[in-house]
Amino acid sequence: MRRISVSLTKGGVGKTTTAVNLAHGLALRGRKTLLVDCDTLGQAGALLGVIPKVGLAELLSGEASPVRAIMKARSNLHLLAGGLALLDIRKGIDQQPSGGELTLKRTLEPIEADYDYVIHDTAAGYDSLSVNALFHADDVLIPVSLAALSVKGLLDFAQRIKKTGGFDPSVGNLYILPTFLNKGVQHSKDILKLLKKHFSKQLCSPVRSSVQILEASAHGKTIFEYAPDSHGAEDYGMLVDRIVGRENKGLHKY
Ligand SMILES: Nc1ncnc2c1ncn2[C@@H]1O[C@H](COP(=O)(O)OP(=O)(O)OP(=O)(O)O)[C@@H](O)[C@H]1O
Ligand SMILES: [Mg+2]
Repeated sequence: MRRISVSLTKGGVGKTTTAVNLAHGLALRGRKTLLVDCDTLGQAGALLGVIPKVGLAELLSGEASPVRAIMKARSNLHLLAGGLALLDIRKGIDQQPSGGELTLKRTLEPIEADYDYVIHDTAAGYDSLSVNALFHADDVLIPVSLAALSVKGLLDFAQRIKKTGGFDPSVGNLYILPTFLNKGVQHSKDILKLLKKHFSKQLCSPVRSSVQILEASAHGKTIFEYAPDSHGAEDYGMLVDRIVGRENKGLHKY
């Protein structure tokens, strides 16, 4: 079993899109996958076209059992939905004098053995649930928008990775996923070149800007369902290949 947090970046860079498409790509390859939405926006359910009434907040508060809180979204793909109810959970974690950062880990431990992968989608910024996800994760996947990142942004980002709270890059894998690649835009290519220079080992093959990715989310479908022959499906397929490719290298306990 392997836990991957899609985390550590600012808003609108493709975290939720990546978490949902990665989770479904893994499920399509027969890996039993649990998608955990740690964001108060609760977008993961919307992207999958489902409206769960209960989810992560109710599981963490003890109001719902795992069986009630976890929703089957697709074959091999289960969802612990996020949403506004996580606001109170976050407050509760913030008020704990110690150990709050292990809340998610402790709650999911009895459940997660049923899965091959646990994927966290996290909120922008660095709230206590994102920190919880990092304390739970084996690996961290960081989407970086090639449309939005500047050189200064890249250097700040490199500094921040070094100080990653709760996650030790020497133990787990760090993946950096460039998103919103537009090959016709020089800035996009320049930033990609810099990313290659600074993060050659961690860099994943980029995801191009794609109208189909945008449309798929509006239709509550993953890119593999909405446009299986599109660039978006090809790019997210490459990410799934890369993640699955680690399985045979003996770096993780399964
Ligand atoms: N490769 C892409 N090409 C085109 N549009 C994309 C791509 N990836 C994501 N989008 C769109 O960009 C918007 C932001 O993506 P997403 O919600 O995944 O980002 P996020 O990092 O999760 O944002 P937030 O920080 O608000 O949670 C969405 O409308 C999504 O459909
Ligand atoms: Mg999001």
